[in-house]
Amino acid sequence: MALPNNKFAYLALFCFLLGCTNGQLSTNYYSYSCPNLFPTIKHVVGSAIAKEARMGASLLRLFFHDCFVNGCDGSILLDDTPTFTGEKTAKPNNNSVRGFEVIDQIKSAVEKVCPGIVSCADILAITARDSVVKLGGPNWDVKLGRKDSKTASLQDANNDIPPPTSNLSNLTSKYAAKGLSTQDMVALSGAHTIGQARCTNFRDHIYNDTNIDASFARTALLPVCPKVNGSGDNNLAPLDFHTPTTFDNSYFKNLVSMRGLLHSDQELFNGGSTDSLVKSYSSSSTAFFSDFVSAMIKMGDISPLTGLNGEVRKNCRRVN
Ligand code: HEM
Repeated sequence: MALPNNKFAYLALFCFLLGCTNGQLSTNYYSYSCPNLFPTIKHVVGSAIAKEARMGASLLRLFFHDCFVNGCDGSILLDDTPTFTGEKTAKPNNNSVRGFEVIDQIKSAVEKVCPGIVSCADILAITARDSVVKLGGPNWDVKLGRKDSKTASLQDANNDIPPPTSNLSNLTSKYAAKGLSTQDMVALSGAHTIGQARCTNFRDHIYNDTNIDASFARTALLPVCPKVNGSGDNNLAPLDFHTPTTFDNSYFKNLVSMRGLLHSDQELFNGGSTDSLVKSYSSSSTAFFSDFVSAMIKMGDISPLTGLNGEVRKNCRRVN
C-alpha cells in the first residue's frame, strides 16, 4: 500500500487512529474501541430499574446536573477528598442526587469489556438515554467522545443549576446561559414526568402559592408535607402524580390542570409565554418526545472536553 505523502494525510490518519474529533462528538465514537458498550450499559440500567423504577429518574437527573456545571464532563461523580470538595454537597445535589452506585456498577462492567476506553461523562449520557427508553420514553442515538474532568466546582453547581423557587425568567436565563432555548427548557422539564421530590422543595408552593389546584394540594400533598419548616423535609411526593414511573406527556397535562408539584414546574404554565408550548405537549406526546430528544442532544453538547483535554477516569469517583 502506498503511504500518503503529505502532512495533512498523516494528520488525518493520526486523528482517525486516536479518535480526535476536533471538538466534535459522534455517535460511532466507540464502534471500534468498545463494540459491546451499549448492551453492557443497557443491561445494568435495566436491572437497576427493575429493582427500583425511580432509579431511572435519578440517573436521568445526574446527566442534567453534570451538563449544567461546566459541561458534560463527569464532574458530578467526583467524591470529596480532604483537599478537594466536589459538587455532591452543593445545595441542589445534597441529600438529593442519587444513582452513584449504579454508575459505579456500570463503570466496572464497562472496564471489564474495554478497559481504559470509555469516559464517565459518556457513561452518564448513555445511561440517561437508556433510562428514558426503559421507562417508556423516546429513543435516540447518543453523541459520544467526551472526556472526564480533573476537577469539579461546588460553587458553579450552586450557581448554575436552577432552584425550584425559580420564576419563568430565571429559568429562561439559566438555560440561555448554557446555549439552550426556552423551547429546550420546556421540553427538558418534561423529565419531571418521572421521579420524586422532597417536601422541602415543594412546601412553599403547596402552602403559599395560589396557582395550584386546591383539592389536589389538600388531598395528595398536604398530608405528606407538614407546613412547619424542618418537619418532614425529606418526605417524598411524585413529580407526576398520574404516572410517576412512566416517561410520557402527563407532566404537561398536570401543568394544564394546575397540578405541578414544584413552583418552577407551574411557572411553565402560569399565563406566560410558554403556556402554548405546554398545551401542545399536553396534547401530543409525539411533539414532546421529538423536542425532548433534540434538547437532550443539545444539552449533551454543552462544553465537552474532547481530544487530548481531560482524561478517561478509571474510577468515576476520583481523578486518575
Ligand atoms: C427546569 C429547571 C429544573 C428545576 C428547577 C428542577 C428541580 C428539581 C427538583 C427540586 C427536584 C427534586 C429534588 C429533591 O427534592 O430532592 C427535581 C427532581 C428531578 N429532576 Fe429536575 N429540575 C429542573 C430540570 C430538570 C431537567 C432538565 C431534568 C432532566 C432532563 C430533570 C430531571 C429530574 C428528575 C428525573 C427528577 C427526579 C429524580 C429522582 O427521583 O431521583 N430536571 N428537579
